[in-house]
Amino acid sequence: MIFLYILVLAAVFIQKGEAYLCYNLSPPDTILCKNCAGGSGSCTLDNGCSCIDDPTITCVPTTECAGVGTNICCPTDYYWSSADNCCTDTLLCNPSCQNDEICKNISKVATCGCNTSLYSGMNTSSLVPTVTCEASVMTVTLDKCLLESLGYNSTTFQLNNNSDSCVNTYTKIISNKTMQSIQALPQTGWCGNEVTINSSIVYYANVLHIGIQNTTIITANPINFSFSCSYNMTMQTSLATAINSVINTVNISINGEGSVVTTMAAYWDQAYTTPIKDNEDVPVGSNVYLGIFSDVSDVNKFVLRVENCYSTPDNNVNNVNKVAIVSGGCPANQGITTEVQENGVSVESRIKFNSFAFQGQPLVYITCEVRLCDKNTTCTGCNAVRTNGDDGTAMLQIPLNFLDDYSSSASNAVESSWTFLASSLLAYLSVKLF
Ligand SMILES: *[C@@H]1O[C@H](CO)[C@@H](O)[C@H](O)[C@H]1NC(C)=O
Ligand SMILES: *[C@@H]1O[C@H](CO)[C@@H](O)[C@H](O)[C@H]1NC(C)=O
Ligand SMILES: *[C@@H]1O[C@H](CO)[C@@H](O)[C@H](O)[C@H]1NC(C)=O
Ligand SMILES: *[C@@H]1O[C@H](CO)[C@@H](O)[C@H](O)[C@H]1NC(C)=O
Ligand SMILES: *[C@@H]1O[C@H](CO)[C@@H](O)[C@H](O)[C@H]1NC(C)=O
Ligand SMILES: *[C@@H]1O[C@H](CO)[C@@H](O)[C@H](O)[C@H]1NC(C)=O
Ligand SMILES: *[C@@H]1O[C@H](CO)[C@@H](O)[C@H](O)[C@H]1NC(C)=O
Ligand SMILES: *[C@@H]1O[C@H](CO)[C@@H](O)[C@H](O)[C@H]1NC(C)=O
Ligand SMILES: *[C@@H]1O[C@H](CO)[C@@H](O)[C@H](O)[C@H]1NC(C)=O
Ligand SMILES: *[C@@H]1O[C@H](CO)[C@@H](O)[C@H](O)[C@H]1NC(C)=O
Ligand SMILES: *[C@@H]1O[C@H](CO)[C@@H](O)[C@H](O)[C@H]1NC(C)=O
Repeated sequence: MIFLYILVLAAVFIQKGEAYLCYNLSPPDTILCKNCAGGSGSCTLDNGCSCIDDPTITCVPTTECAGVGTNICCPTDYYWSSADNCCTDTLLCNPSCQNDEICKNISKVATCGCNTSLYSGMNTSSLVPTVTCEASVMTVTLDKCLLESLGYNSTTFQLNNNSDSCVNTYTKIISNKTMQSIQALPQTGWCGNEVTINSSIVYYANVLHIGIQNTTIITANPINFSFSCSYNMTMQTSLATAINSVINTVNISINGEGSVVTTMAAYWDQAYTTPIKDNEDVPVGSNVYLGIFSDVSDVNKFVLRVENCYSTPDNNVNNVNKVAIVSGGCPANQGITTEVQENGVSVESRIKFNSFAFQGQPLVYITCEVRLCDKNTTCTGCNAVRTNGDDGTAMLQIPLNFLDDYSSSASNAVESSWTFLASSLLAYLSVKLF
């Protein structure tokens, strides 16, 4: 019975084996998976094929191996042919190699290696890295086989700071070639980045260091590639140029968009590109620029609208001393000079106000209620009616050190500002009393 079975199977193999000679079930003690004591075997990526009842007994696959489709389906020295659906003694790599690679027999394991003859006659001047600058990441890419043909070790990519967390490398197939890439973040202080700020443009530079292969014949010297990306200074990109900016970030969930990261930060300048840091004091009476932006993927669908902003002496937004800065999307006119510079027209909102302090309190907390507004509805104007229940809303809060320093040169501004605030607060309270 078993004999008959082997014959049938072998016949099938021979029929299918048009391109490669199929493994013909020798040596004779080879166990067919279907002949295992339990009646069958199975193949896994980790362990190859073995009998189901006894995983220590390896077996030769049946057609079920086609689902796994790798060489671990076959005994040592045999390789899986997906075309013939059998094991063959012809060296085959699975998955198959790229156009610039050759399937090599390395310690009896079929391994894709570079076809170095493709690159004969080339030298390091042919090594031209591709630099891709994206909003959140910089990527440097080189042809892996060209590197290896020239004597470089493509797994040695490093940046200025060579610590493990700075080595973010991966390979990718581009036009049937294996490319080796390393990524860097456009952020100040990240892994030896050098940052240059030129008025409205910020440059992040780093160096890619590539080592050579550890072989007896050395054909190359380690090489360094400087690369850089430039970014327009915006309220968003400027946050990456400064460490310890005062920011708050929340996720807003919204129908048809998922989770939208929304950030609030405070800036020193009208361009909204110099973030206020958490160790910086803001003299009372100076202009503060509150920037809020959403990372919406479809900017044609939603806009960001700041509904209300309050200031409080602590993080409790219901503190009795709370003063509104923005109300219904417009200046609240509660004594704090406020200008709503942009709101409800894009995914950014810009609010300029005059800093002030609560007497005896070191910090002022700014809390804003924002919503992602369906562009089809009314999102601009004061007290715009909320027409779409699907709008996503969120609260953002940042603390700022508004320095109430009467001895400073800004004392006049300080006093007038504080006085103005106090009197208008009184007015506000008295209005409430009546
Ligand atoms: C692979 O190399 C080994 C020696 O390392 C050799 O015994 C074997 O026959 C080779 N296999 C093929 C398919 O070339
Ligand atoms: C390797 O590249 C050379 C030069 O292009 C080519 O002639 C040869 O066929 C390639 N080898 C394989 C196995 O593809
Ligand atoms: C590299 O090769 C190019 C031609 O492909 C040649 O002009 C150049 O001089 C070579 N550079 C070096 C350093 O050998
Ligand atoms: C390199 O980066 C690591 C992790 O980011 C950091 O801990 C280390 O201080 C950095 N080294 C230098 C010299 O900047
Ligand atoms: C990649 O290789 C496959 C098969 O060898 C071929 O069909 C395809 O056109 C190639 N693609 C490119 C971009 O060269
Ligand atoms: C700064 O930008 C200006 C205008 O784009 C340019 O001419 C100048 O060379 C830049 N300076 C630096 C140091 O990059
Ligand atoms: C390439 O570098 C890696 C990591 O540094 C090392 O493990 C490997 O042995 C090197 N390969 C060669 C051929 O030098
Ligand atoms: C290079 O290879 C030799 C022997 O193969 C080994 O002793 C040495 O440690 C390797 N060097 C590096 C930097 O990997
Ligand atoms: C590459 O950079 C390393 C580390 O900064 C330095 O030691 C080496 O001299 C540089 N090599 C070249 C060729 O510039
Ligand atoms: C950067 O700023 C310039 C000039 O303001 C503008 O033309 C360009 O489109 C901006 N680039 C990006 C990516 O926003
Ligand atoms: C806005 O209106 C257009 C056309 O009326 C419609 O196709 C689109 O889906 C609407 N957008 C949203 C977010 O409802």
